[in-house]
Amino acid sequence: MPEFLEKFCGALPEISQLYHIIFSALVRMITEPSHLDNPISEGLNNRVAGEPVQAAITYEKIPTHIYADAKDASRAVAREIADLIREKQGAGKPCVLGLATGSSPKTVYAELIRIHREEGLSFRNVVTFNLDEYYPMEPDSLQSYVRFMKEQLFDHVDIPEGNYNIPDGTVRVDKVADFCRAYEARIESYGGLDFQLLGIGGNGHIGFNEPGSLINSHTRLMMLDHSTRAAASMDFGSLARTPRKAITMGVASILAAKRVVLLAWGERKAPVIRGAVEGTVTEHNPASYLQTHPNALFVIDEAAASELTRMKTPWLVDQVVWDNKMIKKAVTHLSLTLGKPILKLTDRDYNDNGVSDLLAQYGQAYDINIDVFNQLQHTITGWPGGKPNADDTNRPERALPAQKRCLIFSPHPDDDIISMGGTFQRLADQGHEVHVAYQTSGNIAVADDEALRFADYVVDFNDKFGIDSPEATRIFRDAAAFLRTKKDSEMDTDEVRYIKGLIRKGEAKSTCRFVGIPVDNAHFLNMPFYETGKVEKKPLSEEDIKVVMNLIEEVKPHQIYAAGDLADPHGTHKVCLDAIIEAVRRLKHKNFMKDCWVWLYRGAWAEWDIHEIEMAVPMSPDQVMRKRLGIFKHQSQKDGVVYQGTDSREFWQRAEERNRATAGLYDRLGLAEYEAMEAFVRWKF
Ligand code: F6R
Repeated sequence: MPEFLEKFCGALPEISQLYHIIFSALVRMITEPSHLDNPISEGLNNRVAGEPVQAAITYEKIPTHIYADAKDASRAVAREIADLIREKQGAGKPCVLGLATGSSPKTVYAELIRIHREEGLSFRNVVTFNLDEYYPMEPDSLQSYVRFMKEQLFDHVDIPEGNYNIPDGTVRVDKVADFCRAYEARIESYGGLDFQLLGIGGNGHIGFNEPGSLINSHTRLMMLDHSTRAAASMDFGSLARTPRKAITMGVASILAAKRVVLLAWGERKAPVIRGAVEGTVTEHNPASYLQTHPNALFVIDEAAASELTRMKTPWLVDQVVWDNKMIKKAVTHLSLTLGKPILKLTDRDYNDNGVSDLLAQYGQAYDINIDVFNQLQHTITGWPGGKPNADDTNRPERALPAQKRCLIFSPHPDDDIISMGGTFQRLADQGHEVHVAYQTSGNIAVADDEALRFADYVVDFNDKFGIDSPEATRIFRDAAAFLRTKKDSEMDTDEVRYIKGLIRKGEAKSTCRFVGIPVDNAHFLNMPFYETGKVEKKPLSEEDIKVVMNLIEEVKPHQIYAAGDLADPHGTHKVCLDAIIEAVRRLKHKNFMKDCWVWLYRGAWAEWDIHEIEMAVPMSPDQVMRKRLGIFKHQSQKDGVVYQGTDSREFWQRAEERNRATAGLYDRLGLAEYEAMEAFVRWKF
């Protein structure tokens, strides 16, 4: 064989390898445009707060910054806006901002107000254009975006009144098209938007550009998607009262901005964020259009990032540190994706699915499988308060003291039974001293006619038993008169709110009786932050923290159960959790706290990830049924509750489906098959 041919043949494996590398690169260039358009720039794939990790491979087609929480993230965004305002000031130019409403930008606005107050940032050169407004909508209505922007930003900074623009929800319908054209022209007259701030809907909408919106759409009247209306119904009280239309800037109008920053907080946004950042550009997820923008940035918290490949399966992106949590995460993920119980996973399964590093560390699949299987096995217990006289080395809770004092914090009056009803019942049945702290009155979630029914009942009751109470009759008459003419934008009177709170209090007491704990162990904290009469709550105050601290000191619990909800970082559950965290932090030096363990349960919508669960309490079919009856005690929350949100299922259905799903996961992983399970994570303070 001629020498050159011999060399060629000898080099065949290398040539084929080279071919493979070039081919894979080409495929990636075609399927993942980010490798062409957005080479991994500084911070593109970094988790900004905490440990920055430079990913080796990216699936992300939009630069995305992940922060530990919304506060940190908002600070960074507000800083960028403040710098831009100052830069424009220096150049003697207006700074043209596109602004959003909704819960996401609130923390950014709060930080801008702080910078204005404490660092003297002036807004005199700022001109703003809001993305959208409901249609029709009066500007002074409770839900109007004009009111929102004034309350959240404009009233607290020195922006001149003529400088802010918000689509007009009062324009006559035959004039809307003209209005929209003029709105665009006005933006143009300032040379376009320097910066556009966005939130993202659960369906991917930006502004109110609902799925189906075209990339070249401009400011227009838009029909709102059902899911958008359902989410907005939280502000309007019911779906029927929620507007069907809105005026919104178009996708093209947004993409024309020189810089676009999109915010997303909470795990409810995680799936849509993954679609927008890693999926293809599609009208089904309008936020994905931002992949085509040369200067867009997503700023999200860890919960909203949780579905991104680098968070969900980080071993596919980069080298990871194989600590215990990561091992559990990878093995449970592998088992569930392959549809194989953990104990049946093979070396090949590990190698073929990007987990060969872990295999190399352990040596063989068998050892990893057994290790993770045992850990999961040890999370399961029918003794959430600890099993007396048992070896507790491998149990989630301590055996001693055999009779514990348990304090369940329930943000609303029904979260205890919805989220941990099976565990609540077991703790009571197993002889522990169980207390429940109802953190808020939950009064805004009671329908008006329900309040009237109860006021009427009191009058009839008095009548029947000869109780002379003209005051009760007056309260009923006033409430009836008020509710008959109550407008959408109107807050309830104090008396009506009080009646509503009492209804929920009665339901909670009824649940306690049903579970079998003394009603004296039900503590109604009525935390002040909640008592605004509106969906919008006050920030956590010293008074709120004190109420929680006082009760912990009074009960001196061995166990605290708290709602560790991440689904809605602005919601009531989060504020209630913050109060507990702060109270525990302040009390932790006390002697009794050394003996206190804190267990976190999740709200009605989501469950802990399987690899995070540290205690799983199984339920038999009978126990599931009993829990359902406990939830039924909350009559005011049945049959189309006020502020239902996007999930049309009743609470007992959500709870059962979620608890069955958890049991299903354990089953699929190859552990025992139960009817349902409640799950907890321990917070070690
Ligand atoms: C608001 C807007 C909407 C919201 C989106 C997310 O002006 O245009 O696109 O940004 O619905 O709302 P939140 O932030 O409440 O989750």
